[in-house]
This record gives sequence, structure tokens and C-alpha cells, in this order.
Amino acid sequence: MEKKANHFSGQLGFVLVAAGSAVGVGNLWRFPYLAAKDGGGLFLLVYFALVLTFGFTLLVSDIAIGRRTKKSAIGAYTEMNPKWKFLGVITFLVPVLIMTYYTVIGGWITKYALVYLTGQAEAAAQDGYFTSFITSPVSPVVFTLLFTGVTALIVYNGVQGGIERVSRCMMPVLLVLVVVIAGYSLTLRHTDDAGQLRTGVQGLVYYLTPQLEGLTVKRFLQILLDAMSQLFFSLSVSMGIMITYGSYVKPEVNLNKAVGQIEFFDTGVALVAGAMIIPAVYVFSGTEGMSAGPSLMFISLPKVFSAMGKAGVVVGLAFFISAIFATLTSCVSVLESIVANCLEMFHSGREKTVRVLTVLYLAASAVIALGYSLFYLEVRLPNGSVGQLLDIMDYISNSVMMPFIALLSTILVGWIAKPDYVIEEMERSGHRFGRKTLYRVMIRYVTPAMMLALFLQSTGILS
Ligand code: PHE
Repeated sequence: MEKKANHFSGQLGFVLVAAGSAVGVGNLWRFPYLAAKDGGGLFLLVYFALVLTFGFTLLVSDIAIGRRTKKSAIGAYTEMNPKWKFLGVITFLVPVLIMTYYTVIGGWITKYALVYLTGQAEAAAQDGYFTSFITSPVSPVVFTLLFTGVTALIVYNGVQGGIERVSRCMMPVLLVLVVVIAGYSLTLRHTDDAGQLRTGVQGLVYYLTPQLEGLTVKRFLQILLDAMSQLFFSLSVSMGIMITYGSYVKPEVNLNKAVGQIEFFDTGVALVAGAMIIPAVYVFSGTEGMSAGPSLMFISLPKVFSAMGKAGVVVGLAFFISAIFATLTSCVSVLESIVANCLEMFHSGREKTVRVLTVLYLAASAVIALGYSLFYLEVRLPNGSVGQLLDIMDYISNSVMMPFIALLSTILVGWIAKPDYVIEEMERSGHRFGRKTLYRVMIRYVTPAMMLALFLQSTGILS
């Protein structure tokens, strides 16, 4: 294997690396939570329909633009149209921001894996454990720095020798772990204090059945918007990452097939993660345990693992290890796209660029990790929630910038460069681009309209 090569070895390597970026905490934690909140099977149906239309459109655009220009966001958009360089710059800023807090979440997950490994599972299930951990001024910083360091080391080793090698090992293991835990979840049964028996299979039925009672147009629109913003985050589109990864794909790779496989992998893991988490939470805490945000992963789940008895220690460890793999491969993609843009701008060499960025990000992520202690603040966000540093970064990058970038990039591709710019690239390997007509309609009309709605809603302008 050419270790230093600046491209992926082939189709499988590319698919696993792209899936590594796509599969992250969004799949393991946000997707199950949204499914439980948004009507179970109803959310699933809406989500699947969106993956095949709108997710597909954004993913195809990013990857094809990357491969056609062989550049990352800034260079790629500039090459498409020099007047649109600004779009490249804004796109580049998304991973720049995400990197500061994704490492913090990675650090928390690493800490929990270690807790399960060292037999402290019971402690993690106690009330207040998570809060006292993140509000400590030392421990979260140490784990964040560790996670940042490992991410940097992988990127330092290059596209094939670092990133592809790690994804090839971690993604299959992750898949197996998630499937095994989901299988175990279905065998669970528990009688609560009121004498009511709940089983994992009932939890699965709750997850898969579309709940239509009380469905109003307003609620349906909310579900649609939730599914849409989840899809963005989950597929890692509209932040330049898939442009960078696309630029490393060899011309002979069949992009149609690769895109289909990435969609399948990402959605499959999300679906199975739901089958792993929802039945387990349902059995031990009913439907109330499916709370939002970090509390599901770091508070509800440890309680669920603890209720499983001895098996819970193993299941908990397996869960947090799969979460480390998912987060690490995503974090690597974030750093790689920053590095790739810098390399094109400064021609500074990979090793040196990674070294400089590592120093900057060790400092920046430490600041965010201290956002619950030293640098605690409360800011009311335009969408109505109150956030700390991490939430602010997340809000700016995901809720404001990403829909805005998607909107502009669909205008650039659909109306200025024209859809054929992408379609030609999809067919360059000699394979037919099957969903061509769908792509044309989506990129010109449907996606820009949807992105505008999402942008207005998530910035609070609409409400
Ligand atoms: N796609 C990842 C997930 O589903 C999240 C992610 C966001 C990865 C941004 C990279 C960049 O969790």
C-alpha cells in the first residue's frame, strides 16, 4: 500500500472512510432520540424519503465537486466560479468551528468507556455523576486533549496510511457491536415497581410503528424539519468534508454505487442504533427516559446499563467503544478537511500543517471543555434554548451555517454551474447516473426551497 498516497485505495476504502465521517454521535444518539420524540415509524418514513431525495442530492453534489476539481471547499468553489470563493470560505469555517467541540464530546465518551472498563459502571449510573464530571475543571479537559491528540495523530499519518487504515478497522467493528447490542436489547424484559412488565420487543414495536394520533400539519412540518436537520448533520454534507473526501477518489471509482452505499451505511447504523437504544430505555424507564441532548447518552443509558445487572457492564463498555469509533472517525474527517484546505492555501506540507493545527485545537478545545466550569455562561439562542459554549458553537455551525451553505451551494450548482457539472462527473467512470432526473429537479427547485425553510426555522426567523 502506498502509505503517503493522497487518494483512497479504491471504492471500498472510500465508502468506509466516508461512512466513518457520516456515522457519528448523530446516528448513535440524536437519531434514536428524534425517532422516539417524533412519532416512531412516522419519523423513520419521513427520514428515509429525505435520505433518498434530499440527502442524496447534497451528497452527490459534494462528492462530485470534490472529485471533479480535486480540491477542497475553498479551491473547489473558486474553481467553479471565482465570484463564489466566499462560499468556499464559509464552508471551510464549519469544520473549523465543529472541531472545537466535537473533540469535547469525544473526550466525554472516552471517559465513559474508561469508567466501564475500570468497573465503575455503578458510579456512572448515580444521579449527578455526569454533571459533576463536566463541571470539573480538570478531567473533561484531559480527556478532550487526549481525543484531540489521537485525532491529530491519525490525520498526521495521511490519507491512506492514517485515515483509510483506521476506518477500515473501526467501521466493521462498530457495525458488529451495534448489531449485537441491538439483538441483546430485544431480549430484555423487566417488571417495574407498579407490577407492569415491559419487553424489548414492545419497545421495538413502539419504535417502528408510525404514531399518527394527534398529528397536525404543524407537527408534521416540525417532524420534517427535524428529519432534515438530522440528515445534514448525519451525512456530513454542506461543510466541505465530503468535498475533501471526494477529491481523494480515483476517476475509475463508480460514484453512483459509492453514494448508495454511504447512504445505506449511515442510515442502517442509525436505524440499528434506534433498535439498540429505544427498546432498552423503554424496558427500564418507559418512554420518559428518551430525553434530549447529552442526558440520553450520559445519564439515561448508564442507568439502563445498570438495570441490566452484570451484563450491563459489558454492554455499556461495548456501547461506549462503538461510540468512540464513531466519533473518532468523524472527528478525523473534520480535521482532515481543515488540513486539506490549509494545504491548498499555504502549501505548507501535511506534517507541519497538522502540527500547527494541533497546537491551536488543543487550546481551543480546552476552552470549550471548560465551558461548564471556568468559562460557564448562559446565552439565550435565537431558537429559544439557553446554551453554554459548546451549544453556541453547535448552534452557529449546524443550525445557522449549514442550511445557509446548502442553500447557496444548490444555487451555485443548480443555476450557475448547472447540474451537468455534477452529472458529467457522476458518469465519468463510464457508469450511468441512475437518479439523474431526480437530481436535476432536486438541485434546482426542491432543495433550495427546503433549505430556505430550514434556515428560517432554525434561526428563529420563521417563528
Ligand atoms: N456525521 C456525524 C454524525 O452523524 C457528525 C459530524 C458532524 C461529523 C460534522 C463530521 C462533521 O454524528
